[in-house]
Amino acid sequence: MPDITLISGSTLGGAEYVAEHLEEKLTQAGFSTEVLHGAELDELSNEGIWLIVTSTHGAGELPDNIQPLFEQIEEQQPDLSRVVYGAVGLGSKEYDTFCGGIKTVDRILQDKGAKRIGSRLEIDVTEHEIPEDPAEVWLDLWLNDLKEAGFLAK
Ligand SMILES: Cc1cc2nc3c(=O)[nH]c(=O)nc-3n(C[C@H](O)[C@H](O)[C@H](O)COP(=O)(O)O)c2cc1C
Repeated sequence: MPDITLISGSTLGGAEYVAEHLEEKLTQAGFSTEVLHGAELDELSNEGIWLIVTSTHGAGELPDNIQPLFEQIEEQQPDLSRVVYGAVGLGSKEYDTFCGGIKTVDRILQDKGAKRIGSRLEIDVTEHEIPEDPAEVWLDLWLNDLKEAGFLAK
């Protein structure tokens, strides 16, 4: 099992690039990773560290490539109490439903017993032309929080 599984939800590629950038940083820091651009429940182990990076589409909805995973979690009700996760959202403050996608992720995962480590990052792409920049700053904080909570030895 990799140290950290990154799961991206993206329609136009922005969140996917952010996930790839974070994966590169994690690999450089010595962690083993896997990245799933979109995912289905049966591809995931129900323990370990997940890092979800997703944008928002429609009116506050998850992108099509990650929507099935969260539908499956709601339908199948897996026990995710051995999952800890980080949450990074991309969205635009031009929408009332700013970062609705990552808020949905957070709600569903916590409902199934998963524990979020660190704060939920909500990147407003109208303010951050390069969303990788705030994501990178957040990543260092998240890794520290994971270490302090005893989930990372390195
Ligand atoms: C059709 C459409 C609908 C969107 N709806 C929302 C929304 O409801 N809330 C939000 O915060 N951002 C919304 N956005 C902004 C996207 O989340 C933002 O542009 C993001 O960077 C796209 O990431 P992606 O390239 O990974 O798909 C929308 C964008 C489009 C094109």
